[in-house]
Amino acid sequence: MAHHRATRAEIDLQAFRHNLQTLRKYLDPQTQIMAVIKADAYGHGAVPCARAAVENGADYLGAGVIEEGMELRENGIDAPILILGSTFPDHAEHLVRHNLATTLCTQPLAQALSREAEKQNKMVSVHIKVDTGMNRLGVSPENLSALLDQIRNLKNLKIAAVSTHFSSADEDDFSITRAQLKNFQTALAILQKEGVRTPMIHCANTSALFKFPESRFNMVRPGLILYGVLPSSSLQKVFDREKNLRPFQPVMQWKSRIILVKSIAKDQPVSYSRNFTTRRDSRVATLPIGYADGLHRILSNNMDVLIRGQRAPQIGNICMDMILVDVTEISDVQEGDEAVIFGKQGNQMISVEELAVKGKTIPYEILCNIGKRVPRIYSNG
Ligand SMILES: Cc1ncc(COP(=O)(O)O)c(C=O)c1O
Repeated sequence: MAHHRATRAEIDLQAFRHNLQTLRKYLDPQTQIMAVIKADAYGHGAVPCARAAVENGADYLGAGVIEEGMELRENGIDAPILILGSTFPDHAEHLVRHNLATTLCTQPLAQALSREAEKQNKMVSVHIKVDTGMNRLGVSPENLSALLDQIRNLKNLKIAAVSTHFSSADEDDFSITRAQLKNFQTALAILQKEGVRTPMIHCANTSALFKFPESRFNMVRPGLILYGVLPSSSLQKVFDREKNLRPFQPVMQWKSRIILVKSIAKDQPVSYSRNFTTRRDSRVATLPIGYADGLHRILSNNMDVLIRGQRAPQIGNICMDMILVDVTEISDVQEGDEAVIFGKQGNQMISVEELAVKGKTIPYEILCNIGKRVPRIYSNG
């Protein structure tokens, strides 16, 4: 299929390496980096990105679910890996067998892991997750002492880290993250009182690590910035202010090719449900990508693509496998011409961030939703 589809996600591993090295220089040398490569490295391909990460200064990898961790192990990646999402006690055998560290907030999982590690004659690492206000995964600070009492004597369990996750670090309102950090400090004080010393303390995602230096502790957990994309306008403002931040580079560009160019007369409806009508005699190009490839239908009539170095507005409803673009203003458009959904062409550029704003979503979703049938083509591997 990779050889036939007229669409491709081009992934520049040199840009990924550059981003990681740039971040490395920005942090204190003793701050460790857990490169978050969950969700197939935000659509960029977990194995190539994980390899590039460990070869360029990542100390740890963050996977989302156990299968993602196992995929990395099966591809020969032996760096420490944390499963960030939830795991169940019946995953213990695979977690231990593949040396996958586990996010932990309950006793049954701790017991199952320790029992299985004893069976396999190993130690298993857990990262205790404290819920400091996201109200998703984690033990609340009030219940932390009780959990520690239940798990601290489990023979084959190593409490390697304590962590939390921020609900609102991407937003302009700093007060929510500050309150979570305060709750996290409470949790750290409890650990200290209980005499539990963890080698790693981590909570900072991309936004937090830039906006709240005090959230870095001795490890950070960046995801999106490694792919050269900013989570929100809030972080963009910080970047605009802090001139010492070196530029991070987008890693992925999404491209297609025109399969058909034709003339459509004025006042003609275009695509499903006829919600666009030509306002003039038009030249319209068809591109063979659609919402089945991850191009959100909500972007219909509200996005551009780049053709011959110029912006061409997308018109009519986005279909499952096709979109239409108005190329009337662009001279000499030919079938077979490249069209850029996001990325650069000539002097023009369309960013993932732009598509996210227009699609009323976040850049994460734009990247993660690019479908499996879009071939990933790597350069500088
Ligand atoms: C627990 C956890 N840590 C870190 C990250 C990385 O976040 P970001 O991509 O904003 O850096 C994520 C991503 O969602 C996450 O779920």
